[in-house]
Amino acid sequence: MTSTLDASAAGTWTLGTRTVNRLGLGAMRLTGTAAFDLGGRRDRATSIRVLRQAVELGVDHIDTAAFYFSPWLSANQLIHQALAPYDDDLTIVTKVGPGRDPSGEWTAWARPDQLRGQVEQNLRELGRDHLDVVNYRHTGPSKPVADHVGALAALVDDGLVRHVGISNVTAEQVDHARAVTEIVCVQNRYAVACREAGAREVLDHCGKHGIAFVPFFTIAGDGQEGRPAADASTADAVQAVAEQHAVSPAQIRLAWSLAQGPHVLAIPGTGDPAHLQDNIAAASLRLTDADLRALDALG
Ligand SMILES: NC(=O)c1ccc[n+]([C@@H]2O[C@H](COP(=O)([O-])OP(=O)(O)OC[C@H]3O[C@@H](n4cnc5c(N)ncnc54)[C@H](OP(=O)(O)O)[C@@H]3O)[C@@H](O)[C@H]2O)c1
Repeated sequence: MTSTLDASAAGTWTLGTRTVNRLGLGAMRLTGTAAFDLGGRRDRATSIRVLRQAVELGVDHIDTAAFYFSPWLSANQLIHQALAPYDDDLTIVTKVGPGRDPSGEWTAWARPDQLRGQVEQNLRELGRDHLDVVNYRHTGPSKPVADHVGALAALVDDGLVRHVGISNVTAEQVDHARAVTEIVCVQNRYAVACREAGAREVLDHCGKHGIAFVPFFTIAGDGQEGRPAADASTADAVQAVAEQHAVSPAQIRLAWSLAQGPHVLAIPGTGDPAHLQDNIAAASLRLTDADLRALDALG
């Protein structure tokens, strides 16, 4: 395949007032952390290089969180160090809800009244006076989202946050959130072979309402926080499609995601400059109907 190294090759989507290229970057893998078994210690200079190179190659949508940190590195502080002063076109999306103490231990989920503090932590670390988009990362299908979303909506009114998104939610919870304020994106787990019951419904529901659907673990699949896709049969099937296009399996997984709808954005996570280029090249990869049928069948 002759590929273009340009994140804009997959087109754009709007997150409220922000227009972003559909191929972005997830910052979780930049730090390396024992909490997630993300491949041990990362090198600060390499992570900064990845961030700068991503932007040079057209990435204008970076997903991060204050709770993405290792004993040595913080994703937010890396972004600040690498990219400030920020280009007006760069959209940084953060998420709040989960809590980690300074030693990295997970603490209780934030109450609605604690979300302001988490937003302010993101502001300090990123060196910004407002956040473009903040996702409320929810805890599960049976708990209500409205109070947390309402707390973020109040921060929009206060000028600290421009737009609100949610994460780890059902279609019904998306509607509960929409009843409180405008929701610009939904971040759920979704990948070639990682499609839980109800997952597709959320993707379609977002499309119907003009909301971006932003899957995570697109490459890792059921490998999740560990290494990329552990499932051998899926890996073989993805590999077969990859060989036909002379591209990598990761690129096939990303291209499949982007083919799920114009409102689907990709935020592949990497701390590796070669993987970054590989992922950005996937923005210009187009799968055939036969490829899509073969990959769909893996779900
Ligand atoms: N809302 C939520 O609850 C939630 C949860 C998890 C993650 N997220 C966000 O979603 C983003 C994406 O998820 P993720 O980073 O966990 O998983 P991912 O993007 O599906 O996969 C990342 C894994 O694949 C490897 N990788 C990346 N590009 C590759 C390539 N071209 N070839 C081979 N291996 C490659 C990475 O290792 P290397 O670093 O060595 O490349 C890493 O092990 C995160 O960075 C984070 O911003 C959100």
